[in-house]
Amino acid sequence: MTLREVIRERIRAAGPLPFAAYAELALYHPDLGYYTRADRRSGRAGDFFTSVDLGPLFGALLASQLGEMWRLLRSTSADKRFDLVEAAAGNGRLARDVLAAAATDDPAFYDAMDLHLVERSGAARDTQVATLGPHACKLASSGSKMPPVVHGAIFANELLDALAPHALAMTADGLREVYVDVDEATGHFVERLGPLSSARVQAHIDGRSIALRPGWRAEIVPDAADWVRHAVSSLARGFLLLIDYGHEASELYSETHASGTLATYRRQRIADAADGVPPPWLVDPGECDITAHVDLTLVRDSAEEAGARTLGVLDQTYFLLGLGATGRVLRDTGEHGVPALRQRLALKSLLVPGGLGSTHKAMIFGKDVGTPALAGCSYRVRATR
Ligand SMILES: C[S@@+](CC[C@H](N)C(=O)[O-])C[C@H]1O[C@@H](n2cnc3c(N)ncnc32)[C@H](O)[C@@H]1O
Repeated sequence: MTLREVIRERIRAAGPLPFAAYAELALYHPDLGYYTRADRRSGRAGDFFTSVDLGPLFGALLASQLGEMWRLLRSTSADKRFDLVEAAAGNGRLARDVLAAAATDDPAFYDAMDLHLVERSGAARDTQVATLGPHACKLASSGSKMPPVVHGAIFANELLDALAPHALAMTADGLREVYVDVDEATGHFVERLGPLSSARVQAHIDGRSIALRPGWRAEIVPDAADWVRHAVSSLARGFLLLIDYGHEASELYSETHASGTLATYRRQRIADAADGVPPPWLVDPGECDITAHVDLTLVRDSAEEAGARTLGVLDQTYFLLGLGATGRVLRDTGEHGVPALRQRLALKSLLVPGGLGSTHKAMIFGKDVGTPALAGCSYRVRATR
């Protein structure tokens, strides 16, 4: 049975699905979901690019930040263990880049860490040991769930944007949720508006004071709040570093994003609300990414509610510059030759304003670590709206 048929049957049996339930099946159905079926979805042969696809530079820069976090914890703790937890670890490429840099630049950090990879996709988990190669000996655990107690650092690149969003629409008659139904005449999926699907959705909207004007659409991701709270509560002591694209709530739920931010990626082509009817996310479930921009205010509030302190929220550009990105490129590859050119192009893509450099934000939280001046936060609050 295809995923399309599975979803159709569910709708016929139980009625229209809230968009979030549809997206959850499209992305994470245990056998047929977009992420479930493949060990990797990004890169030249994939559907979209992440910073990890630009080569080892991103991981090397993260390694320097994570190494600094290790030193800070070590200097103030009797517990010498350092758990390095990557969530949304995919096939382990970013962890491999982090470990490779640490092994060369900071062997004491490398020796001290235990690596834990958290990834929902079994196909991706199955390839992690091979991807890690000589660093597989550092892998203490790999699973779909966060280790129960973490003393160290949890980090994730582009996790929260991959969680299933609820879609909302404000009408003249009030707030409605978007459901997915089957048009019996054509057999195609169609959107229908209905009441809010759960008390959880209602509580999220009330708690966040999200006010939309008639005609606007928006997405909310209660799972993102739950994930952040859970990550912070898993931290006995240490840091949480999240990198993702998004906006503060005041921007996300404003006229600027009146059509919402839902989008699909397929073969490097983005399709969104501007693509009209049928909406791209209904065309081929399981064959493309479905994503929405992250509510940064929600992330920060959830982390703080769970007991963390916000240490910085800044554009990826300033985060990586704070970590010495330009000097590192010169040091690694010099000024001339093909490797130098490649590395500079990677750096440019990581920093470019309007691209990864400003759409992506680094959000850094600490639990029971005070307010250390981290290198990645040395540019302080430099966030493009
Ligand atoms: C957009 S991809 C990013 C992958 C990688 N971090 C990168 O930057 O290339 C999102 C990944 O998050 C994983 N994922 C989604 N929800 C998750 C969860 N709750 N815990 C761990 N991984 C999750 C998906 O399976 C997918 O591999």
